[in-house]
Amino acid sequence: MTDVTTPGTPVSAAQLEREADITRRVLESFDGCADPRLRQVLQSLVRHLHAFVREVRLTEREWDTGIEFLTRTGHITDERRQEFILLSDVLGASMQTVAVNNEAYGDATEATVFGPFFVENSPEIAQGGDLSFGAAGQPCWVEGTVTDTAGKPVPGARIEVWEADEDGFYDTQYGDERVAARAHLFTDAEGRYRFWGLTPTPYPIPHDGPVGGLLEATGRSPMRASHLHFMVSAPALRTLVTHIFVSGDELLDSDSVFGVRESLVKDFHEQPPGTPAPDGRDLGDRSWSRVRFDIVLAPGGS
Ligand code: BEZ
Ligand code: FE
Repeated sequence: MTDVTTPGTPVSAAQLEREADITRRVLESFDGCADPRLRQVLQSLVRHLHAFVREVRLTEREWDTGIEFLTRTGHITDERRQEFILLSDVLGASMQTVAVNNEAYGDATEATVFGPFFVENSPEIAQGGDLSFGAAGQPCWVEGTVTDTAGKPVPGARIEVWEADEDGFYDTQYGDERVAARAHLFTDAEGRYRFWGLTPTPYPIPHDGPVGGLLEATGRSPMRASHLHFMVSAPALRTLVTHIFVSGDELLDSDSVFGVRESLVKDFHEQPPGTPAPDGRDLGDRSWSRVRFDIVLAPGGS
């Protein structure tokens, strides 16, 4: 192991040896683990954790602060709020895990973080249907195709879509029973889809808990770049969890959970009031937007 110490904190060779000996003994304590993967993960975790403690020369007061932070993170977590995932998100660990598990395959669409606001059993909408169900926001016509990496259309692919309303809230954050700004639909025989959603707007991740405190203490913003969530699945293809982002959004470079991929930034074309809608919908005097998102699924899955 490389011994790195904070500049200005001289550490004797004997001390370094004492520290390395502790690490060695903890690593050896897992040598008898019957599950090789569990052994690998835990020994690697110990190696990195000890290297961190030694590199920053962690003080006992800092250790206390860390334990207290994690305790508060646990206390605020329940079946509705998952502060540990939020912590993983703002440390980029969620996005790094997504990257490790979604190695680029040909021109398959890139994945990004799942986020905490997906809900099972969303309402089904028909092609051209509207997922807003009364949620506030500018109407947005979304259309595209689902193909495999050979360019073959995927009929019957299930597309789950969910997003925040123009006030920056998902339906689940209102604390009532509403279901809005979420739905699923299926691609048609040519692998095409189209629906009405809402033009995405920026919103903060929940920041009234310990993770919000961490962001504030470090001068970081809780804001997420504007986005629309997708989860797309089809037999024998890898399920894709992703978003599309709005080109020109000033938050693209500072997304609080590091979810932005260049390939997922799309042009949302603004349509002035009176512009005829693609499906003949009467939008009165409202402006609307439109975006195209062609989805390519990698091989794999069940
Ligand atoms: C979201 O996209 O909704 C989200 C993602 C990560 C953390 C919090 C929110
Ligand atoms: Fe989101």
